[in-house]
Amino acid sequence: MKTFIFIPRCLNCIFWCYVLVLTPILCFLFGWVDFRASPEEIVGVGLARRSHDFQNGNSASEFSHTPPQPLAPVSECLEKVSLPGIPQNIPVVHQLFLQHKHCRTFPRLLTPRVCDHDLYLLLAVKSTAAQIDRRAALRNTWGQVETIRGKKVRLVFLLGRSQDNVKGYPLQRLLEYESRRFGDILQWDFADSFFNLTLKEVHFLSWFSQDCREAQFVLKGDDDVFIHTGNLLEFLQDRSPSDHLFAGDIISKAVPIRNRKLKYFIPVVMFPANRYPPYAGGGGYLMSRQTVIGLDRAAQDTDLFPIDDVFVGMCLQKMNVTLVFHDGFRTFGLRQKITPFDPCIYRELMLVHKLNSIELWTMWSMVNDPNLICRKSIKL
Ligand SMILES: *[C@@H]1O[C@H](CO)[C@@H](O)[C@H](O)[C@H]1NC(C)=O
Ligand SMILES: *[C@@H]1O[C@H](CO)[C@@H](O)[C@H](O)[C@H]1NC(C)=O
Repeated sequence: MKTFIFIPRCLNCIFWCYVLVLTPILCFLFGWVDFRASPEEIVGVGLARRSHDFQNGNSASEFSHTPPQPLAPVSECLEKVSLPGIPQNIPVVHQLFLQHKHCRTFPRLLTPRVCDHDLYLLLAVKSTAAQIDRRAALRNTWGQVETIRGKKVRLVFLLGRSQDNVKGYPLQRLLEYESRRFGDILQWDFADSFFNLTLKEVHFLSWFSQDCREAQFVLKGDDDVFIHTGNLLEFLQDRSPSDHLFAGDIISKAVPIRNRKLKYFIPVVMFPANRYPPYAGGGGYLMSRQTVIGLDRAAQDTDLFPIDDVFVGMCLQKMNVTLVFHDGFRTFGLRQKITPFDPCIYRELMLVHKLNSIELWTMWSMVNDPNLICRKSIKL
């Protein structure tokens, strides 16, 4: 009777011994195979679970060897429920914004490859986890260029956190893969919502000041813009990164929208004046290093405002920087009806907003077609 029980118990124990010994070996082997896939996939890319890991200067490749962590909930910051002055008669999103306005620092989740010391132009593009096709299109069109006339250009995507899934896969996992594969993802742990775009702005500014201030110029744009990088460089040719520069589709004396039904509605309590300071249409604008670093400082003592472009305008006003209007930035797209998709028009511009991935690809191929023949000048 005794032995009868003893044998199965022992088998059981041998089985568990195998499991205990084999699992770590298999994990190690698979991990090893996965991360050796391609050397450029390892360099400077990784998933960090705490932002202070980065601040301590740990090399990113260390994180590549950490097994995937379960998805942590999005960082929350305690709301100021009893904060006086949050009126109840404004929309709930605006109330939420005001309750969370004091939460300004969130940990970094994904960090891109380090910036080269001789980087000339940084292309910083706001994106969200779900816009995989837009990022793919940008990497294969204007974002793909690494040098223009000997000057280094570099693409980085700016993202918050998404809890969504695609076909059962968490978007966060897909993004971690993109980060390993391309090393161009800069992500922080706040919800990627419309009203959190200003958070993205302030986090980008401080990342730039700390980790990428070698870059001489920065183009900040959306992930649905066409950018003529060659024209940008031509425009920057005689400019110094240590002078202030802020150029784009400048909007002056814009009136805050007071109609509750519109996307950009701002109640009087959030902005009592009846004109915004001058700002650039958010599709994209160009800045010098001096201006970006100045903005980082100015942003630190400016209250967050839900419209990120206007927030930047408020900071620029504090800095006394003159905003330069340039006709080549079409942040409202092209307005004329005749042949708006003419590559000869795009060849004259710096930036056009609101193109889908296929249009981006098509336009990029056409603009770069050596056989494209254009009339000498195009009236816009
Ligand atoms: C911004 O992100 C934080 C952190 O994820 C979240 O608590 C907050 O609700 C978000 N704010 C808005 C207005 O979406
Ligand atoms: C901007 O100009 C105003 C008035 O001209 C001046 O008081 C202020 O100190 C200036 N600010 C900066 C940051 O130069």
